[in-house]
Parts: sequence; structure tokens; C-alpha cells
Amino acid sequence: MKKKKAWLLTILVVAVVGISIITGHSNSLKAVSSLGKDTLTMITSPDYPPYEFYDTKGGDRQIVGFDIDIAKTLAEKLGFKLQIMESDFNGLIPALQANRADFVMAGMTPTPERQKNIDFSIIYYEAKDTIVAPKGSNLKQPQDLLGKKLGVQLGTIQEQNARKISQKVAGIQLKQLNKVPEVVQEIKSGRIDAAIVEDTVAKGFAQANPDLEFNTIPSEEASGSAIAFPKGSSFVEPFNKVLQQMKDDGTLAKLVTKWFSQNTAANSVSSTPAKGGLNLDFTRILPDIPFILRGIPLTLLFTLLSVTLGLIWGTILSLLKILGIKPLTWVANAYTSVFRGTPLLLQLALVYYATPQLTGYDISALEAGVLTFTLNSGAYMSETIRGGIQAVDKGQSEAAMSMGVPYWLMMWDVILPQALKNILPALVNETIGLLKDSALVSTIGVVEILRSAQIVGANKYIYFEPLLFAGLIYYVLVMGMTLGASALEKRLRESE
Ligand code: ARG
Repeated sequence: MKKKKAWLLTILVVAVVGISIITGHSNSLKAVSSLGKDTLTMITSPDYPPYEFYDTKGGDRQIVGFDIDIAKTLAEKLGFKLQIMESDFNGLIPALQANRADFVMAGMTPTPERQKNIDFSIIYYEAKDTIVAPKGSNLKQPQDLLGKKLGVQLGTIQEQNARKISQKVAGIQLKQLNKVPEVVQEIKSGRIDAAIVEDTVAKGFAQANPDLEFNTIPSEEASGSAIAFPKGSSFVEPFNKVLQQMKDDGTLAKLVTKWFSQNTAANSVSSTPAKGGLNLDFTRILPDIPFILRGIPLTLLFTLLSVTLGLIWGTILSLLKILGIKPLTWVANAYTSVFRGTPLLLQLALVYYATPQLTGYDISALEAGVLTFTLNSGAYMSETIRGGIQAVDKGQSEAAMSMGVPYWLMMWDVILPQALKNILPALVNETIGLLKDSALVSTIGVVEILRSAQIVGANKYIYFEPLLFAGLIYYVLVMGMTLGASALEKRLRESE
């Protein structure tokens, strides 16, 4: 009896502490309207050195770059504080439309289509497209891309330009990826032949990856970067004024030299990757390992919380199912079938993106993650628990009933404890599954292990090594958990 109370208390404490940490932790997109107007909120896609990328030196994560410096100067001159948020590039315009930020700086080029949905400042930096390819490919102009596989970042004008090229040049196969470093990695692994990338960005990647080369595409029009605002924003005017000032007084030129003249990316690479074979070089991520490791507590907290809440929710659902009240059973079954019948990733995206629109509550990425995982694992666990309950010997409930023990008390005191013991192995499996699936929340911007690894990859212009390292961490965590669980199971069996 005492033991059970202790258990219940532990579960409650985990839930309460976890939830408060999570709600406190939420540093993701908050609706701008909720901010006092002394702060400007900018959103960017920090996969784009030297415009914007992560500085992870010293284990901390900071977004730095050309755009960031400009934004800081702008905010300061206009008398605002600056808050910076992030998303994949293709999520930036939707974020402006949903009013989740005051402006976007992400090396974004004004195009007529974009201008239908958002407003732009004047251009602050001109850029040209290049073809990035393995050294010696000698791809200089669109015609050279005949029959090639071509990579681009999703939602960028490079994607559009690639489409245009493929209308003129035969046999081009397009591959769109979310982040520029992913595009570069695809070239390195030979899955695509080339990519279209802006010149300054291409330069950085080529310097860090000596096995790559880039050639500027000769074209009539140069494209440029401008600041983007929600349609009708009153900030366009003041921003333009200050931008013009910065152009005139040389501030902008200074920033251009600072970020574009040398190989900025804070992390210039000294070692040259070995030729041929598997050219892995983990020394390049050595300084970033503390940063990746920092994702572990969040991943664990996330898992623990989802399992705990999922267990509670799953128990409730399973009781609804076996209570014998038709409508309740029906609802619980329908719920389970929906949550088991649709992809977790889809549920996650729905909860994260639709909640603000449907309820007005601006849910943070982390909260959305915990909520989705709880709802989802509750569905799975309810079946497991139901099975566990039904596996408890009927004689026990009959005995309890005949002694006049009320139904709920019997459930609580007799049936559930035994059921839980029976399903322990299944619960461990569920926990392991959740731990690994927690990587999915990286897609909505929670910086857990996988996301940290991707950040380091973006930062260092490499992809493979940090991912391998992240895989190792997951594996070690799962192994630890498995060992712990079998020890626990053994103890429970012995105490029988
Ligand atoms: N200039 C291009 C565009 O507007 C690419 C910008 C990509 N920016 C980024 N942060 N990934 O489409």
C-alpha cells in the first residue's frame, strides 16, 4: 500500500516538475502580439553561413552572421531590443503571415510571388547564383547541367531558378532539401551531381570542403537580399531609412567586409579530409561535442514526461474501454484508432501549427511535442494496459467483489498493480520507442540531440560526423535504459 502511494507520488512529481520545466523552457515562436513593443522579433533560418549560422563554441548556441549584425544595428538605431527565432527557410514566410515575427532576415530575395504575401525593404546585399559540384566537374553554366541531378534548398529562389533551367535544359532531375548543408552533403555523397547555391554561401562551403568547387552562373540579373515583413507592416519605412543610412555612412560596407571577405564561418577548417573511401574526420566536431551532449537532458526529460503522462492517459483510456459503458468504449476505441492510424510526425505538425489558429493559445514547440507524444503514446498504452488488466485472473476480481470491495478500489488496489507488473516489458519498449521518436520534435525546432547535431553540421559545413555521433548517443541511452529495465524486472520478479 505504502509502496503504491510512493509510486503515485513519483509519477505526479515527474509530471508536475516536467511540465513546469517544459513551459518555462519554451523558447520557440511566440506570437508577436504578446510581446510588449519594446522588442522586435526577427525570425531566420540559420543554415546559411555567413548570413546566419550557429556559433556553438563554448557549448552555447548563438545565431551569428551578416544578417544578424545588420538586424542588431537596425534594432538599436530604432530603439528596440531584438529577439531572434528560427525555422527552416520554407517556414519563414508562413511565420510572417501568422504574425509570429516582426520581420525576417535570411538572405531572402524579393520576388513578385513573395511580394503578394509579404512586404520587403530595399535590397541590402547583392548576390549571384553558383553551381556547386565535386572538384573537377567543370559545370559552368546551365547548359552543362544536361541530364544531371541538381539539388536546391526548398522554398528558395534557387529552387525556382533550377526549375527554370530545367525547362530549357533536358533531363535535369531536381532534389529539394530543407537545409543548405544537407544539399552540400548530398553532393559529397554523390547522390546529386550539383547544386545551385548563392555565391557567398557557396564560397564558404567550398573552402571548408576542398573536394568541392563552385562556378558563378553568368546571368543578366543579380538577385539580392532584403528584409521581409508581414504585409502592411508599419516597420518597412523606418527600416528602409536606417538601411539607407547604413549604406551611406559605410556601416554596411564594413559588415560586408567583416563577413564576406575572409572565410568567416567562425569555424574555418584546418584539416583536409582524407582522399577516397570513407573520409570521416571527427576532429572537426570535437569542440562541438559538449553542445551536442547538451541535448541529452532535454531528450530524457521529454521522454520521461511523455511516458509518464502517456501512462496516466493510457490508463484512463483503458478503463474507459473495459468499463462496459458503450458510448465511452466507443469514444476510447475511436480515439485509439485515429492516433494509431496516422503518422506521429503528422500529428506533431498538426498540434504545433494548428493549435494557435484553433485555440488562440500559442503553443511552444516543446509543449506541442509533449502533448502530441502523450496523446499518441496514450493510445498505444491504453491497448497494452487493457490487455494487462484482462490478463489478471478473473478469480481475483470476483473474490474482491464478493467481499464487497467497491469497483474502483478493487481496480486500484488489486487489478492495476498486477496489470502494471505484467506489462512492464511492453512499457519499456514504449519508452525506448518514445526516446528515439523524440528526434521528431527536431522538425519543429526543439533543440534536442538530433537538432543539436544538425546545427553543428550546418555550422561546420559537414553532415555525416555529427549525425553519427548523435546516433551513438541514442544508442547508448537506449542500451542504458534496457539494462536498467531488465534489472528492475528481475527485482520485481524476485519480490513476488
Ligand atoms: N536568396 C535565396 C532566397 O531568397 C535563398 C535564401 C536562403 N536563406 C537561408 N537562410 N537559408 O530564396
